[in-house]
Amino acid sequence: MSLPLNSSFIGASSACLLHRERPRRRRRQNVHGVTCRHGSNDDRSVTASQQRSPLLLDRRDMLLGGLGGLYGVTAGPKVLAEPIMPPDLSKCHDATAPALDNHCCPPYSGSETILEYDFPATSLRVRRPAHLVKDDQEYMDKYKEAVRRMKNLPEDHPWNYYQQANIHCQYCNDAYYQQNTDDVPVQVHFSWIFLPWHRYYLHFYERILGKLIDDDTFTIPFWNWDTKDGMTFPAIFEEASSPLYDPKRDQRHVKDGAILDLKYAYTENTASDSELIRENLCFIQKTFKHSLSLAELFMGDPVRAGVKENQEANGQLEVIHNAAHMWVGEPDGYKENMGDFSTAARDSVFFCHHCNVDRMWDIYRNLRGNQVEFQDNDWLDSTFLFHDENEQLVKVKIRDCLNPTKLRYTFEQVPLPWLGNINCQKTSETKSKSTTELSLKRVSEFGTTPKALDASNPLRVIVARPKKNRKKKEKQEKVEVLQIKDIKVTTNETARFDVYVAVPYGDLAGPDYGEFAGSFVRLGHRKKGNDGTEEQGPKKKGKLKLGITPLLEDMDAEDADKLVVTLVLRTGSVTVGGVSIKLLQTDTPAVI
Ligand code: C2O
Repeated sequence: MSLPLNSSFIGASSACLLHRERPRRRRRQNVHGVTCRHGSNDDRSVTASQQRSPLLLDRRDMLLGGLGGLYGVTAGPKVLAEPIMPPDLSKCHDATAPALDNHCCPPYSGSETILEYDFPATSLRVRRPAHLVKDDQEYMDKYKEAVRRMKNLPEDHPWNYYQQANIHCQYCNDAYYQQNTDDVPVQVHFSWIFLPWHRYYLHFYERILGKLIDDDTFTIPFWNWDTKDGMTFPAIFEEASSPLYDPKRDQRHVKDGAILDLKYAYTENTASDSELIRENLCFIQKTFKHSLSLAELFMGDPVRAGVKENQEANGQLEVIHNAAHMWVGEPDGYKENMGDFSTAARDSVFFCHHCNVDRMWDIYRNLRGNQVEFQDNDWLDSTFLFHDENEQLVKVKIRDCLNPTKLRYTFEQVPLPWLGNINCQKTSETKSKSTTELSLKRVSEFGTTPKALDASNPLRVIVARPKKNRKKKEKQEKVEVLQIKDIKVTTNETARFDVYVAVPYGDLAGPDYGEFAGSFVRLGHRKKGNDGTEEQGPKKKGKLKLGITPLLEDMDAEDADKLVVTLVLRTGSVTVGGVSIKLLQTDTPAVI
């Protein structure tokens, strides 16, 4: 295991955060030097003038063009863009949500006053693992009572359980267009908005639950799926008479201790429990390790106001997160509730799952010395609207949620087994899938024509690397990234493909797909047309970016000129437009 930092680091850093005095208002001064040993870049110390560094660009740079690798690759067309702003709530329209008859708009009109959010001044609330709160009767009674009260609120109350769930549908299933556009949906997935938006969503949900039971210390639990004991469906959601229960789940998975499969694609993994646990831990380890030096690989690509032509690229954390959605939701129909974004938040486990996703971001941030992930005002100033714990409609900016301490919560420290030493090479899944494929095979370059992936015949292409045998310093400055572009999901069904990397023998590929590098997942996005039949396929293309510098080191592939890249379609229907390898500027040189 060659992650540069270990769990004691996390402990030290988080302990640090716990004890630091947090100012309530955003401040201007630089806090370098007064913070803890590892924290170097306090969120609130970011000011416009400090946002210039060799890696950073402002809008003028973007207009001037000539943006080498950094934004030329990540930001799509070089246009004058702006932070994402909240939609006009009075203009909610039908969503892509057939399971809800396309309706998930809020009952309120949009004439409410919008205020700045008054951040809580409570003592730090500690979120705990779901499998450990199970036996805390007092906590469980409170949690259930809070959710019960939320369910009993008048149907049109903004805090009502189903109104809270509909928020997710509105922002994920195209119920709003961005302001000043009539066709660019507000979308909180597939980009750098994903983690901050969900952080706020959970925060307000948690604060409202606390308010309903008059407990300022209340926290939602996290589904600790990154550890062995937390890898089954959390038992606290199982009891049929509990307000936390949801009947719309895959019954094979939510009982009898089935192990969550973080690469789930609607086929059961036949590996033994211990093998599956190891594969999950490895997937998490790789996700962190491969994306530690560049935030967009972990968190997703930029998205800017009004830009509709960009290719959406989610980070690998979102990919991991999707599997749990699929695994919990029903296997058929609309995959309710968890397996479809429009209904996902109708299952209480949604918030528990996202609580762990949020925690993964916090760990990632700690591992990178708490630096701001994107020094870019289009990210930092992106603004969301929520009803807060005082029933007030408030606006909040991404820059104010980067450190959970500002929201006054933290996570209980638990062991991080995936950060330890586990053997993650040559898992059984990477061995050849076909017994007839015994010998070396000629594989060609991708070429220029888009290709449809075929589940029974993986796409294998040979891809040239921009540079081999790079020095340590070069690797610290630029990370090698495998890019798959123009990914088109051609039906409304959930789609997934996995990506493997191997070293060729000359121009020949061996039977072994090599090492797992990452995945593309898109949950189903169905839309009922006016005539009641379903419209076909999302229009937007996506891309996938996978950091491979540490992977190639682990594979001892430093001196390979070319790589064999194998795309294995796991579910759904997908075409891809190209596979290439690029060098992208890192944002954290310290980690490789
Ligand atoms: Cu908004 Cu787990 O998705």
